[in-house]
Amino acid sequence: MAVQSGTTLDEAYSQKFARSRELFARATNSIVGGITHDTRAFGPFPVYVTRAQGSKKWDADGNELLDHWMGHGALLLGHNHPAVVDAVQEQLTLGTHYGACHELEVQWAELVTRLVPSAERVRFTMSGTEATMLALRDARAFTGREKVIRFAGHFHGWHDYALCGYQPPFDVPTSAGIPRAVAGTVLVAQPNDIDSVRALLDQHAVAAVIIEAGGGSNSSIPTDVQFLKALRALTREREVVLIFDEVITGFRWAPGGAQQRYGITPDLSTWAKIIAGGLPGGAVTGRADIMDVQRITGDARHNRFQRVLQQGTFNANPASAAAGVAALTIASDGQPQAHSDRLADMLRAGYNEVLQRRGVPGICYGESSVFKVMLGEAGTEAVKQRDVVGILQHGRREAAALRRAMLVEGVDLMGTGGFLSLAHTEADVDRSISAFDRALGWLQAEKIV
Ligand SMILES: Cc1ncc(COP(=O)(O)O)c(C=O)c1O
Repeated sequence: MAVQSGTTLDEAYSQKFARSRELFARATNSIVGGITHDTRAFGPFPVYVTRAQGSKKWDADGNELLDHWMGHGALLLGHNHPAVVDAVQEQLTLGTHYGACHELEVQWAELVTRLVPSAERVRFTMSGTEATMLALRDARAFTGREKVIRFAGHFHGWHDYALCGYQPPFDVPTSAGIPRAVAGTVLVAQPNDIDSVRALLDQHAVAAVIIEAGGGSNSSIPTDVQFLKALRALTREREVVLIFDEVITGFRWAPGGAQQRYGITPDLSTWAKIIAGGLPGGAVTGRADIMDVQRITGDARHNRFQRVLQQGTFNANPASAAAGVAALTIASDGQPQAHSDRLADMLRAGYNEVLQRRGVPGICYGESSVFKVMLGEAGTEAVKQRDVVGILQHGRREAAALRRAMLVEGVDLMGTGGFLSLAHTEADVDRSISAFDRALGWLQAEKIV
């Protein structure tokens, strides 16, 4: 739908996405808050999508959007890669749930152990949240210790443990409803500060350290590889389980994830998104001796008192397994990653050139095929200084306006940035950069930047 000239950004948004506004009004009558994932909360209303293909999606008004959200990063191969679609369609005719073991889950696990350097064993889950919850439980059971260290601003899903220390103030859980007893077991260290980890290890009996290996909050808070190496050495020395949360970086940073790209071997890792080829799924992988805490043995006493229990009706369901096998097979040669990384480099350079040319304070940054935009002087400085609180708190108003302006200009950012994929082309990157240029024009006209 064409936007009339002389309109404000909000008016342009409301005009272009009129059908979405109606759907959101309807949704609020039955869905709490009108949304099904907190990051989809977006004022004045979110956009409703009806179909997607490759690097694009189309909304309820028929607008074509270049997609940088890409299934929250699950779609390394783009929407509806033919090999994934064929595999899932074939599987659907054979059954979606056998309530039994099946060969595809074995094939899927074999692929994962082949690709991931540290994966001696695998256990599938249905999401990244379940994976980090299980990995922490495995580590606690293995070490017999209760406390875990996580990093301020790093995201590990939405279970009780993961939401302690996620957003400032870090000593208050990011969600209501989390028991104090749980919060008391989660210690918060400063990203890129090995002394803060050492100080906590000196004071507490710690089971595990969990970290987003590619940087906190989907790479918003960049991680120093030297710090990761120091963290590996320190946790090994103290016999503390090191968990790399590879839900974002897994099969994206490299076929074997961030651990392969950086050459660092964690004890356990957590995966979701790309692992299941765009369908629901996740996994914990790692050292066999640690993951054996989940094994049912002939020892009834061990089984009842020392074993880690894991269930989940849809774990490794045949449809997810089929999509996962198809996607990982394609991702295993590193070509989708190399293509996406190259386009992300082009995009980051293009966005930064636009910022400079327009004289707008800001930065486009990120690693691998993830990009982030931070607008404003304070936010840009926070990124350069890797100031966690600054990165998480600066530029919120500008980011929301930018996302709205980008949608008006035909591009769907994920929050303050997004993903590139195998399906994106150089023409898509050019389109994204010129949309960013026009979007900044909106923000300048409205004196938001
Ligand atoms: C690093 C990280 N860990 C865990 C999760 C949670 O995964 P899920 O949304 O599949 O529960 C996410 C989700 O974005 C994530 O980015």
